[in-house]
Amino acid sequence: MSILWLITSLLLLLSCVPGFSMRDGIVHGKVSIPHSRPYMVYIRDTISEEVCDGFLIREDFVMTAAHCGRNPVVYLGVNDTNLLPESVAVHPIPHPKFIMRPGYDIMLLKLKTPATLNKTVNTITLPKTGDGEISKNCMVMGWGSQDYQYDSPSRVLKEANVTLLDSKNCGTTDTLCSEGKIGPAKGDSGGPIVCGDVAQGIVSFYTQESNGEYCTRYTHILKYLPWIHNMMNSSLLQQHETWKGKLDKLI
Ligand SMILES: *[C@@H]1O[C@H](CO)[C@@H](O)[C@H](O)[C@H]1NC(C)=O
Ligand SMILES: *[C@@H]1O[C@H](CO)[C@@H](O)[C@H](O)[C@H]1NC(C)=O
Ligand SMILES: *[C@@H]1O[C@H](CO)[C@@H](O)[C@H](O)[C@H]1NC(C)=O
Ligand SMILES: *[C@@H]1O[C@H](CO)[C@@H](O)[C@H](O)[C@H]1NC(C)=O
Repeated sequence: MSILWLITSLLLLLSCVPGFSMRDGIVHGKVSIPHSRPYMVYIRDTISEEVCDGFLIREDFVMTAAHCGRNPVVYLGVNDTNLLPESVAVHPIPHPKFIMRPGYDIMLLKLKTPATLNKTVNTITLPKTGDGEISKNCMVMGWGSQDYQYDSPSRVLKEANVTLLDSKNCGTTDTLCSEGKIGPAKGDSGGPIVCGDVAQGIVSFYTQESNGEYCTRYTHILKYLPWIHNMMNSSLLQQHETWKGKLDKLI
C-alpha cells in the first residue's frame, strides 16, 4: 500500500488546529530545480507497482514509510519518472511494531549495492538527540499526486514549504504534523519533511478536516533513533557474520 493513508475515522481523535492556510504544496506545488534534492529516492513496488518516495541517509540505506510495499526497488538521482535510471535492489527492514495502523510507520531499505555519491546522488542528515528545538519552517517534496481527489502523479520532483504545528496538537507522540489546503498527497508517502537541512519526519498519512483543510502526519524520526542506529549498525554486523559463516564453511 504505497499511498498516503486517508484515515477519516481518525479525524475526531487527531485534530489539527484550524486557521492556517498555505500557498504552496506538492498539490499545486512548485517544480524543484532538477537534481537539487539529490537525497530524494523514487521507490516502486515490483509486485503492486505502487510508488513511494524515500531518502538516502547513508550510501547503503534509504529511509521510507513502513506502509509502502514489501517488494521495493529504488531509483537514485531521478529527475523525470518517465526516464528512470537502472533500479537498485534493496532489503526492506520495516519497523517490527508496524501493523498497518498509524504509529511506527518507518522502514529502512538496505541497498544491495551501495550508492556512489556524486552531484545527483547524495545523503541527507538525520536529527541527533540534543539538537534542540526543530525549526518550524520546513519543506516537503515528492513525485506524488498533484491533486487530493484524483491520482495525478508528477513526472518531475515538486516541493512546497509547510509549517509544523505544535507536536502536542498532533494527537500522537510519534508524529509531527502540518496543515493546509495543499501538501503531500498520494504517492508522496515515505518522503522527507526537511527542516533546516535535516530530515525530521517521514510523510505518513493525511486526514481531511471538517473545514476542508488537510492535516498531514509525519513519522517523527527523532523518536526512532535508537532503532535506526541499531539497524544500521547491526546490518553491518550481519554482513560480517554472513561472511564469517561462509568462510567457516569454506575452511
Ligand atoms: C528533467 O525532466 C524534465 C521533464 O522531462 C525535462 O524537461 C528537463 O530537461 C530535465 N532536466 C534535466 C536536468 O535532466
Ligand atoms: C551519479 O551516480 C548515479 C548512480 O549512483 C549515476 O546513475 C549517475 O549517472 C551519476 N551522476 C554523475 C553526474 O556522475
Ligand atoms: C520556500 O520558502 C523560501 C524562503 O522563503 C523560498 O525561497 C522558496 O521559494 C519557497 N519554496 C516554495 C516551493 O515555495
Ligand atoms: C552505531 O552505534 C554507535 C554506538 O552504539 C552509535 O554511536 C552510532 O551512531 C551508530 N551508528 C549508526 C550508523 O547508527
